[in-house]
Amino acid sequence: MHAIAKQVMRNYPLHTALLAILLTCCTSVSLTAWQSENVGIAEENMVATVNPIATDAGVAAFEAGGNAVDAAVAAALMLAVVDGYNSGIGGGCFILIRRANGEVVAIDGREMAPAAAHRDMFLKDGKPDTRLSQEGALAIGVPGALKAYEQAVREFGNQDFASLVLPAAKRAREGFPITPTYASVLKRTSESLAKFPGSKQVFLKDDGTPRQAGERLVQSDLANTLERVANDGVDYFYRGDFAKQTALWMQQNGGLITEADFANYLTRRRDPVETTYRGHTIIGFPPPSSGGVHVAEILNILEPFDLNTLRETDPATYVHVVAEAMKLAFADRAHWLGDPDFADVPLGLIDKSYAAELAKKIDLQKVMPVTSHGTPPLADAKFFERHTTHIAAADKHGNWVAITTTVNTSFGSKVVIPGLGVVMNNQMDDFAVAPGIPNAYGLVGTEANSVQAGKRPLSSMSPTIVMKGEQPFMTVGAAGGPRIITQALLAIVGKIDLEMSLEQAVGQKRFHHQWSPDLLMLETGFPPEVQDKLEEMGHQVRVSNRAGVSQAIFFDADKSRFIGVHDPRVPGKAAGAAKVPATDR
Ligand code: GLY
Repeated sequence: MHAIAKQVMRNYPLHTALLAILLTCCTSVSLTAWQSENVGIAEENMVATVNPIATDAGVAAFEAGGNAVDAAVAAALMLAVVDGYNSGIGGGCFILIRRANGEVVAIDGREMAPAAAHRDMFLKDGKPDTRLSQEGALAIGVPGALKAYEQAVREFGNQDFASLVLPAAKRAREGFPITPTYASVLKRTSESLAKFPGSKQVFLKDDGTPRQAGERLVQSDLANTLERVANDGVDYFYRGDFAKQTALWMQQNGGLITEADFANYLTRRRDPVETTYRGHTIIGFPPPSSGGVHVAEILNILEPFDLNTLRETDPATYVHVVAEAMKLAFADRAHWLGDPDFADVPLGLIDKSYAAELAKKIDLQKVMPVTSHGTPPLADAKFFERHTTHIAAADKHGNWVAITTTVNTSFGSKVVIPGLGVVMNNQMDDFAVAPGIPNAYGLVGTEANSVQAGKRPLSSMSPTIVMKGEQPFMTVGAAGGPRIITQALLAIVGKIDLEMSLEQAVGQKRFHHQWSPDLLMLETGFPPEVQDKLEEMGHQVRVSNRAGVSQAIFFDADKSRFIGVHDPRVPGKAAGAAKVPATDR
């Protein structure tokens, strides 16, 4: 067989049959333009999302001369229209940018609790009621995504923000065919959506049943809102009619958010979390994300282990070691993590000596009991200043962008304020509504993540950029609640330790342990003997096909080209444009 075909078969096994035939018969196929179902290859730039329309918006931004920041934000704004159950301008985001000049920037667009929020707001008759934090007016935090997108483009993009918003407005006005995935989420959430007239009007038919796959979803109110943002800037949203109408709806529906909460919303510039791992630098998002801290903590714990040999010789023990490291980190998450503007999050959590102590606790033969968190060095002295979707973008100048953005669970609070068209988040559920009470993801927390006015709820979102020396090596991020952290981790381990192609690293079977509940989750498809051995070691195994969704980009320095991957578990698209930004900043 042709040498190129063999190489591609090794790197991209999921597409081998079709591609091998193609490459064997047609030796002139250019790999630089190659695009398979979930892999894109391009020389100048790359953007990867879960939705082809959104990826195309990113590619169009590149074609207009934009850089990776413009492309990522164009894709994020389009996702707000075509994938609004996962993310949108009614939600929040974290944006991690590695600029062409080497600077790394972390923009925190996480939602904030309104000024009237308080610790006991989700108690009813003295008992925690997570229905209140998950659905309806009280579940909504003050949205930050739009302000963060605008800031990223204004400070680090090449394009006019309005030019990135208008294509999304046009798509909202003209509509798009509802995909089978979208239709299944609508079906699952239709009973809740029906409780809110603004949501019912957009997403349900007149008879109250959900719109079906193949129907065109037109969102005229969202189109109007986006056009107003394009014309009047984000002040329309934060200080104008949008804030006014939302505050009025809140008053009428038992919510707390006021016009002042919108006006007072601030994005934050944070210092990224950095650690080293086997000759690479791992750059992650700091608190209020728990993602950067715990990806770093887990990698630090794993560094003494030869994971590649372990996986080849004894796959169950490989899973066991990584899962035990996950467990240790999630026990720390539950205790220590919260908004660093309110809680003291110890810097020592990413200390190599702390990780080395934790690593010694891992028994290769059996499960270790982890009853509580650890105590990192200087835990009382040195601190960090938290359905969802991930967008990865990069360009040849060296701009790399990782945006994880979310309204939290599917369709967030299920609220669309009538006339505004925007799905509002339910990010208040990412607070610990009471100590030890699990949220929608089964996560527990303590005082560090209690509800307080103006505080940001702890997140697991983990936009990550990996450097090799001075060169960006890969970027990855994910959707899936706490599984976000472990997906980012496994993709990095897959690429660095297990020497997988990027497609294999994203497509590999995943596993997840979040300490509480004490369950090892294996993605469907692990060999039965691996599961049996893990159970013999003492793990309580649960097999699930809920493994999260990752997007990633790798720069193949030998061939000087980007490889973009969207998660093969769901639809999506990774693609580049044939154009390099004319000017770079
Ligand atoms: N709402 C999911 C997260 O931020 O972790």
